[in-house]
Parts: sequence; structure tokens; C-alpha cells
Amino acid sequence: EAEIVQELGSLHGVPLYKSFIEGWPRVKAFQARPDDVLISTYPKSGTTWLSEIMDMIYHDGDVEKCRRDAIYNRVPFLELKAPGEMSGIEQLESTPSPRLVKTHLPVQLLPTSFWEKDCKIIYMARNPKDVAISYYYFHRMAKIHQDPGTKAEFLENFMAGKVPYGSWYDHVRGWWEKKQEKQLLYLFYEDMKKDPRQEVQKILQFLGKELAEGIVDRILHHTSFQEMKKNPAANYETMLPILMDHSVSPFLRKGVSGDWKNHFTVAQNERFDQHYQKLMAGSDLHFQMEV
Ligand code: PPS
Repeated sequence: EAEIVQELGSLHGVPLYKSFIEGWPRVKAFQARPDDVLISTYPKSGTTWLSEIMDMIYHDGDVEKCRRDAIYNRVPFLELKAPGEMSGIEQLESTPSPRLVKTHLPVQLLPTSFWEKDCKIIYMARNPKDVAISYYYFHRMAKIHQDPGTKAEFLENFMAGKVPYGSWYDHVRGWWEKKQEKQLLYLFYEDMKKDPRQEVQKILQFLGKELAEGIVDRILHHTSFQEMKKNPAANYETMLPILMDHSVSPFLRKGVSGDWKNHFTVAQNERFDQHYQKLMAGSDLHFQMEV
């Protein structure tokens, strides 16, 4: 029987699930197509939300078409490699163009083909306090992870970058810098919460696509937290129960900005702020910790 829990190995210094590292040679050699659009995020930063928005845009707001399959099949996960399971690469190879591709890879590890083909990339970042809390609950519900320990222990590991995909700070900064030279739209979860219409318009402009106002309305409704939470094609409930236990914590857990306030102690918050300031020093990248 396949092992569900994956230890973390090191992929060029970035902590990652061992099975993903085994699949790495094929990921590295992945041949992107020029019309692929990449959805890139650090985990728990709004990947699924952005994916649903993108699939809706690609299908002109046709809700039924966007129920054709689970979001993790509609937008294949590039570096996914679970033992005994189909890999992201195999899934992508059987996906007709134009494809949407999900990745959590840090910028320096993105297969070079995406740069060579000059693919459009949309990155979404989320404030690290909410990411850390969301990631903690995800570690408990998604059975690929080892026990995250207490919230305090997990926070320490998060700050030290000892979690899958490594340092949040390196990830958001690395992709932010790429924006200078490449076709990259850098979005924030907090902006999407505050004014989703404006952010969807940014995406449409980036894609060079126009949609009627009514279609945009439908996209915004269908991709709201409440709608996605009850949509089996978007809420991950169709994943095998041995892989995810939604009774521990649902995949669409809270969907707000600032939930960290319900979890951080005053001391933890001070420590986190100090560490944040040190690691983000000298960057013009700024985060709203709540909206
Ligand atoms: S993953 O596993 O990395 O792909 O997870 P990801 O989708 O990036 O992040 C999951 C968090 O995003 C929240 N989410 C949403 N928030 C607002 N609106 C919508 N529509 C939405 N869809 C997903 C989800 O609830 C997770 O955040 P938390 O804070 O845990 O609720």
C-alpha cells in the first residue's frame, strides 16, 4: 500500500515532499506551451480561488462547464507526484490547450521552458500570518504531512522556512523581483478580498480578454467563498478521504484576512513582526495583514 505521509527532503535547498523530489527530473524537463498560463503561489495563498476565477474566465462564466471536474484536475498541479498516483506532468500532457497550470515552486526552480516560451504568469501572494495559520490547519487535514506539532512549534518552523516549499519570505520576494523582466501579474489575496471586481479586471487586461459586465458578475458570484465552499468541484471534498480529512479542518476553512488574530498570542505576534521586518528589509513589497 502506498505511503500517504511524506517526509520532507531538500530540492536544491528547498524543503519538499520526498515523492515530489523523486518526480523532479520530469518536472524540470517539462515542455510548456506558449499559451499555457501559470498560476503561481506559495501554499495557502489563494491558489484555488485564483484557479476557479481563471477557469471561469476561460469558459466565459459558464458555471456548468466549470463543474466538469474537480479544480485540481481542471488546473493540474505541475510538480505533484504522489506514490501510485498520476503525476501533474502526466495530467498536463493529456490536457488540451489552452492549459492552466498550478505551481508552488519558488521562482528559481521554475522549469526554464516557461521562461523560454514566454508564458503568462499570475502570482498571488497572501500575508504571512494568515498563510501560516492556514498552512497549520492544512498540515493537520492533508495527510501527506507529518504532524505539525503545536501552533507555536509550527510558527517557528514557518518562520525558519522549515515547511514544504521553504521560506515564504524568499518565495514572495523572488517572484516579486521577476516582475521587472517578465510577463508577470503579481496579485494579493487581500486586494482580491477587498475589491474582487477590480482584481478580475486586472486579470482580464493582463490576458487581453474582454467580458461583458454580466459575465463578470457571474464569475464574482460563483467564486465567492460561500459558493466555492459548497461546490464539490471547488472545495476538494472529492479527494480520497485517506488524503484529506475535512472533519479535522475543511479545505475552504475561513477565507478571510486577519484570522491570525484569533490564533497568535501577543508575544508571538511581536516576534513574528520583528522577524518579518528583518527578512523583508530593503524590499518595496508590502503586505496588508488584514482588510
Ligand atoms: S493550496 O493547498 O496551497 O492550493 O491552498 P490555497 O488554495 O492556496 O489556499 C487555501 C486558502 O484559500 C482560501 N480560499 C478562499 N478565500 C476567499 N475566497 C475564496 N473563494 C477562497 N477559496 C479558497 C481557503 O479558505 C484557505 O484559506 P483559510 O485561511 O485556511 O480559510
